[in-house]
Formats: sequence, structure tokens, C-alpha cells
Amino acid sequence: MIGRANGRPISITGLGCSVPDRVVTNEDLAEIVATTDEWIVSRTGIRERRLADGPLAMSDLAAPACTRALEMAGADPASVDLLIVATVTPDMAFPSTAALLADRLGMPDAAAYDLAAGCTGFVYAIAQAHAMIAAGLAHRALVVGGDVLSSILDWEDRSTLVLFGDGAGAVVVEPVDHGGFLGFELGADGGGGMHLWLPGSGTRHFDESESYVKMNGREVFKFATRVMVSSAEAILRECGKTVEDIDVYVPHQANVRIIDYAAKKLEIPEEKIVVNVDRYGNTSSGSIPLALADAADDGRLKPGKLVLLTGMGAGLTWGSALIDWTHSTTGATP
Ligand code: ACO
Repeated sequence: MIGRANGRPISITGLGCSVPDRVVTNEDLAEIVATTDEWIVSRTGIRERRLADGPLAMSDLAAPACTRALEMAGADPASVDLLIVATVTPDMAFPSTAALLADRLGMPDAAAYDLAAGCTGFVYAIAQAHAMIAAGLAHRALVVGGDVLSSILDWEDRSTLVLFGDGAGAVVVEPVDHGGFLGFELGADGGGGMHLWLPGSGTRHFDESESYVKMNGREVFKFATRVMVSSAEAILRECGKTVEDIDVYVPHQANVRIIDYAAKKLEIPEEKIVVNVDRYGNTSSGSIPLALADAADDGRLKPGKLVLLTGMGAGLTWGSALIDWTHSTTGATP
């Protein structure tokens, strides 16, 4: 799916993020599985991640991010009429995490639902919020992206354990005077779905009795390097922009080698690329809002900047958004 915004301007007016306090370094993981800091840093760029210290529900992780985003936007929670939570680690299959959060935050008029698109979930969800508002169905949306991936990691599998972290972000999406979302490109290829999957988590029964993330790293790497480039090129073309027009490039934070590959292929200079995978690991749907918050706080993300977001993940899915940034979003970092 690809399209450019053709109606009234709609943008992000508030941003908030949340991560657990517990910092887990590569050395800490080397005490649990057969790995080394050198292996992890050279293959992924990850140095540490935040992991829940005990059971943590997705809605508990997301709530502070939502509150921060609403405060930044100056929005009364009761004025939100759409809440989408992009996650693959909901509190439970149902009720949805979004419905629980809407109740907790005080949003009696909000339509609320969860969306599962792997690590691309945040990009899918902002596209939906944009479309609902553009169609006149919703007026102010809160979009959450995040995961408590530590809850589905196999602590004996070094090939996945070292890659992921817990984190969430939330944005307020609403009509503005000018600028905002320019367009979206979204895709999915279920044919590659079994390269990154959670057996035993639904109605299809597999031999694996435990529900842990399983990944064919090499295949995901090949897929990621391909779609990170093709999706970015497609949305730029659709919106009549070029790579030179981009001020801030916010790729999904899965692996620094994937980010470097995409940026080099696209010819995006280093100073425009946002990277924080070294501090958070791959936080799935939380990765793009966490990276946006960092870019705002380091002074690169300001009103008037053209921002390219590109995500990819389980599904397999991918997605890009192009945004003419309209509001100051400093102070969103946890
Ligand atoms: N420490 C030490 N050795 C390890 C570890 C580890 N943590 N994990 C795997 N190894 C070993 C393997 O067992 C293998 O050993 P062998 O050759 O004796 O069998 C060796 O290291 C090499 O493994 P490779 O898979 O070839 O390593 P590769 O260079 O491909 O790097 C990685 C692995 C980092 C997973 C890479 O394939 C990758 O980044 N893939 C993409 C993963 C990704 O981005 N996933 C998430 C995207 S979607 C989403 O965000 C949910």
C-alpha cells in the first residue's frame, strides 16, 4: 500500500517514551549464555538494553509514555477519540491493551484496539490514525508502539536473547495548521513469516511447547536490508521528494549493520541518521518513537525538518512514513 496525504494537515503534536530502569549490559548477558561483548557489538552495535525487572505488563510500560505525550500536546485524555496500541506483547490476547489503557487514562469516548505488525507496528499505527482523522472519523488519536520482549525471550538462546530490549513510545496525532504527514508506504510478506515467529502463541499448534521468539537471523538480515531501501525509495518517489530533502532519518533500531547498509545504499549522510540501538537494543514497536525522542533531545528533530521513518519486522512487514515535522518534541525521553 502506498499513498500521499491529500487532505488537511495532520501531525504529531506530542511524544513520550518509557523504558524499564534496569540496564542489562552485554557483560551481564555473557554470564547467562555463551556470548561476548565483542561478538554482540561487532554483529549488532548493541552495548546494553533495558529489561523489565520481573513481570511487566505492556499497559504498565506504556502508561507513562502516554501521559508524557498527552502533556506535551496539551491534550486532555478525555478528548482522545482513538487509541491504537501497536504491540506483539499485549497484556493478554483480550481484552486489548488499548481498551485497558483507555480506561486507565480516562478516555471514555475513544475507539481502542491493538495492532500486530511486528516491529513495523508503530508505522502501521500512525498511518491508521492519520487515515481515520483524514476521513473525519477521529479528531485526536493517541498511538502507542512498544513491547515487553523480555517476556517472550528464551533466556537460553544466545542468538535472540542478545538482540532485544523493552521499551514503549506514544504520540498524539491530530489536525494542525500546516505540514505533518506527507505519505506512507506499508507492506507485508507472510511467505517469510516463519523467519521471525512466536510458535505456540495462537491457534496453530506446533511441536514447540514454549512461546519464545524464534528467528532465522540471516534471512531476516537479507529481508531487512532489501526493504529498508526499497520502502524509503518508494515513499520518497510517491511524495515527490529526494534523499537530499531528508533532514532526519529514523530507521527501525534492530541492528547497526542493517542501518548502515540502508543509509549507505540510500546515500544518507551519517549526521542525519538516528541511532540508539547501542543503548536500547531492538525494542520492536518502541524503537522508532524512542529514536524520535533522542533526535529531538539532541537538537536534530525540530519543526520544519523533513523526517523519514522506516520500519521492518515480523510478518514479515515493512513500512515508511514521510513527515514535515511541525511541533517541538524535546523532553520525551524517559
Ligand atoms: N554470541 C556468540 N555467538 C553467537 C551468538 C551470540 N550471541 N549468537 C549466535 N552466535 C553464533 C552462531 O551460533 C554461529 O555459530 P556457528 O557458526 O558455530 O553456527 C555464529 O555465531 C554466526 O552466526 P550467524 O548467524 O552467521 O551470525 P550473523 O553474522 O548472521 O549475525 C545476527 C547474527 C546478528 C542475528 C544477524 O543475522 C542479524 O542481525 N540478523 C537480523 C536480525 C534482526 O534484525 N532481527 C530483528 C528484525 S525484526 C524485528 O525487529 C523484530
